[in-house]
Amino acid sequence: MPQKVILDVDTGSDDAVALMLAALSPELDLVGATTVNGNTLVHFCTENTLRVFDAIGVQVPVYEGMALPLSRPNPPRAASSHAIHGDLLDLPPATSRKQPQHAVDWLIETYLASAGDIILVPVGPLTNVAAAIRQAPQILEKIPEIVIMGGAHEVGNRTALAEFNIWCDPEAARIVMNCGRPIRLVPLDATSRALVSLEDCARFRRIGTPAAIATAVMVEQRIRAYDAHQPARRTGAAPVHDALAVCAILDPGVITTHFIHVDVEVQGPLTDGTTVCDFRRGRGRAPNVHFAVDADEAKFVAMLGAILGRTA
Ligand code: BDR
Ligand code: CA
Repeated sequence: MPQKVILDVDTGSDDAVALMLAALSPELDLVGATTVNGNTLVHFCTENTLRVFDAIGVQVPVYEGMALPLSRPNPPRAASSHAIHGDLLDLPPATSRKQPQHAVDWLIETYLASAGDIILVPVGPLTNVAAAIRQAPQILEKIPEIVIMGGAHEVGNRTALAEFNIWCDPEAARIVMNCGRPIRLVPLDATSRALVSLEDCARFRRIGTPAAIATAVMVEQRIRAYDAHQPARRTGAAPVHDALAVCAILDPGVITTHFIHVDVEVQGPLTDGTTVCDFRRGRGRAPNVHFAVDADEAKFVAMLGAILGRTA
């Protein structure tokens, strides 16, 4: 039986690759996608998500969610973010339509009706997930695991310390991090060690499926933007953050985790939105998060090629 998953996305080019992996992997059953404000305004994220599914010929229900963080105004957008994603993905306009129900209501209804077997995969700000937990805490016992792309220990990308998804809505992230359910966190520490290169993109183009070609186009744009604005560990390559979270469900060995305590700073003038990671052994608070400190780049890139080579 394929593993059921729900992806909560702020699509975005790396969200797009994560969606394609989840939709095309035979080991996963993508029950639905929920969209949230983040990389761009939520209605663009919804349109982008629909575009991705149309482009690869799959029908997955898409529910639009929160347009603002839980208790803050929308944060200003960084120029680098615009260069990496733009508002609309360079794919044909969507012909399929979003579902009428709000994402938060759908998450609550779906989890309450479930057998407790749907892994939740948030790869954007955690606003939808926190809103659902706040509104209906009884869903928690039906969520077997939450696999999140977000956070950073070594170095941030939105501030010196803070990663974008957590920084966008730290109050929401704090609710989720302290929810008591099993959490795997795939932070920048891991995603920055699993880069996709221009040579990899050339290989994806040669594979020739709609998903592989779309990924090559989007990742090449990411590489240009990273090289110009936000250099990765080497030039000519970039992280595809959200895709690594989906790969970690398919093969946990693609990341290396430590079970530690993680909380979220919600007010420091220099540290707002930072994941505070307590690596002290046997001291401090009890561990709540399996925090990825490393990733296997070769395995990750091989997984991308194998899955994106599939057609619906
Ligand atoms: C995260 O922020 C977004 O820009 C990406 O889609 C990813 O989820 C990386 O910090
Ligand atoms: Ca994202």
